[in-house]
Amino acid sequence: MKGIILAGGSGTRLRPLTGTVSKQLLPVYDKPMIYYPLSVLMRAGIRDILIISSRNHLEMFRSLLGDGSHLGIELSYAQQDEPRGIAEAFLIGEKHIGDSPVALILGDNVFHGAGFSTTIAQAAARLDGCELFGYPVNDPERYGVGEIDAEGRLLSLVEKPVKPRSNLAVTGLYLYDNDVVEIAAGLTPSARGELEITDVNQAYLAQGRARLTELGRGFAWLDMGTHDSLLQAGQYVQLLEQRQGERIACVEEIALRMGFIDHEQCHALGRDLGDSGYGNYVRELARRAAATAAAESSSAA
Ligand code: DAU
Repeated sequence: MKGIILAGGSGTRLRPLTGTVSKQLLPVYDKPMIYYPLSVLMRAGIRDILIISSRNHLEMFRSLLGDGSHLGIELSYAQQDEPRGIAEAFLIGEKHIGDSPVALILGDNVFHGAGFSTTIAQAAARLDGCELFGYPVNDPERYGVGEIDAEGRLLSLVEKPVKPRSNLAVTGLYLYDNDVVEIAAGLTPSARGELEITDVNQAYLAQGRARLTELGRGFAWLDMGTHDSLLQAGQYVQLLEQRQGERIACVEEIALRMGFIDHEQCHALGRDLGDSGYGNYVRELARRAAATAAAESSSAA
């Protein structure tokens, strides 16, 4: 499965923070925002990922993340000239997608909870059409809102409804089969001139091939469109990391744990991160992985 991170848009609601910096590069506590969606794709085992952003921000993403080889993944970049809708990602990314299924994730979404990579893997394994993820919120009118039956089949879907029929917001992670490119190519722009992701999902719904998995209690889904939600996300990450001593969305750690890099590569990444707490954490991970590898090889001998 290919991956796409959509990290464009104009970030108007976050001005002046987004005056010169892309919203998806703003800090969420100890790391840039894009690390969070990137880590979701990596944990799902997706290694070939396209990052889409606006022309004046693409180089910043490239200088932060490069070609991804240091993390054992392949990153490529493409430009979205104007924010013409989330579904435009499939047209911009057509060559990248090729004949594969694809996971699209919005660059301003944080997902955090036990077993999430298993949830994604299960959804990917049964993928026939589209797989969406829903999250109960107390302000559903701000989101795409879905209704499902007992088997998780989508029954209805409305973008920013005035009178929501459920409290299940459709989150910014979407899994699609390869038909998505053709569906996106056939869309008509909405009244606000955008190719709407909800129209893509409606097309699958009309074919009876749309499912939605509910991410329940104990799970955190945060999107960061405003100053308050950006700060809250940072505080959430700070609280958990300080309490547990483990970092959320540390891409070096995920690369190591997924076997994309070995402990020596991880150590080199930690060294490049210098004397920050984050760098110390990455070097400590590498040290522990080296000790485990040494113990395993001596018990095998
Ligand atoms: O966050 C989940 C919600 O995302 C879903 O519940 C909605 O169904 C979906 O339409 C979307 O709603 P938003 O109102 O959050 O969409 P927004 O236009 O704010 O775009 C979300 C992110 O995608 C934002 O960080 C900017 C980026 N984006 C958006 C558009 C329209 C782009 O990179 N390019 C675009 O053309």
